[in-house]
Amino acid sequence: MEASAGMSETQLGRHGPVVGPLGVGCMGMSPGIYGPVDEAESIATIREAVEAGVTLLDTGDFYGMGHNEMLIRRALDGLPRSRVVISVKFGALRDPAGGWSGNDGRPAAVKNFLAYTLRRLGTDYVDIYRPARLDPGVPIEDTVGAIGDMVRAGYVRHIGLSEVGSPTLRRAHAVHPIADLQIEYSLMSRGIEAAILPAARELGVSITAYGVLSRGLLSGRVPAPDVKGDLRVIRMPRFQPGNLERNLGLVDALGRIAKEKGASPAQLAIAWVRSRGADIVPVLGARRRDQLREALAALALSLDGDDLARIDAAMSPSQAAGARYDAAQLAHLDSEAHP
Ligand SMILES: NC(=O)c1ccc[n+]([C@@H]2O[C@H](COP(=O)([O-])OP(=O)(O)OC[C@H]3O[C@@H](n4cnc5c(N)ncnc54)[C@H](OP(=O)(O)O)[C@@H]3O)[C@@H](O)[C@H]2O)c1
Repeated sequence: MEASAGMSETQLGRHGPVVGPLGVGCMGMSPGIYGPVDEAESIATIREAVEAGVTLLDTGDFYGMGHNEMLIRRALDGLPRSRVVISVKFGALRDPAGGWSGNDGRPAAVKNFLAYTLRRLGTDYVDIYRPARLDPGVPIEDTVGAIGDMVRAGYVRHIGLSEVGSPTLRRAHAVHPIADLQIEYSLMSRGIEAAILPAARELGVSITAYGVLSRGLLSGRVPAPDVKGDLRVIRMPRFQPGNLERNLGLVDALGRIAKEKGASPAQLAIAWVRSRGADIVPVLGARRRDQLREALAALALSLDGDDLARIDAAMSPSQAAGARYDAAQLAHLDSEAHP
């Protein structure tokens, strides 16, 4: 089934923007993340997504060190600004060699990051602005307070968070309403269910779920082991030899259920996340039009109690081999340290 501009809509948070049932995350469209990229195909994918009724586009100023935002600007050229809800993450510090050197959530840094983002995107406002990671050296109240200043000045419409735990979410929300928490959530990564999701629901904060396909693993199509510049192959535990084979075995079991429903494993994984609640919006990392179409077609797939029980039996999170990030990256996650 083709999804269309008539796709159902949902509001992020109690006062946040209204978005379609699925967002598109643009991270994988920049080099150095998931291997080689194809700019023309990336732009065509973003445009086709918007034409199909996708409104939520997610980026980070550090994805390709500005490349991702400039790509989005080119893709949206000629389209009314109001057609899209642009979510931007900031704060991750890079070096000229592409390395990572921490996070900066100081108020002056927030305003500096935003100034550059607005210029790169060619827009005068960002719809949702969020720190990518908690800066342990800066109280979240200060970071969110600075974004709040930018809301009052008209440069930002709404505030979001990313990969924080419930204590941080509560503190931030007390300073300014949080529209959504962007966090990994999938059949393989269900860590939010114990504390973070209940807290978000209590506060009226939506979840924008990333890694819904566990970085592509749940599609059963994985990067070649010799591909250059693909962080999955370089460092992500679930893609390492030994773990990968075990995880693909789980995806096989998922695939058998999907087949009976006339769907692909990726579509089943998307439908599963959507089945968890209307306040959870998957942000898919589609970077080609065929992936986008596969993801949009999953919106027509619904799962009943029997399907969900079989899916749970085929893939419980404890069966996944390897953590969702390596140890160095996990150390930056407030969501893991203080869920
Ligand atoms: N807040 C955070 O900390 C954080 C972290 C990571 C990502 N994000 C955001 O979330 C977005 C999605 O994350 P993600 O890309 O890591 O996770 P994902 O959606 O689980 O994985 C995307 C990858 O899955 C593969 N794939 C296969 N079939 C697909 C299909 N039908 N639709 C989409 N992808 C398919 C593609 O890999 P191949 O093209 O190689 O086949 C694609 O690059 C990112 O673009 C980014 O905006 C946020």
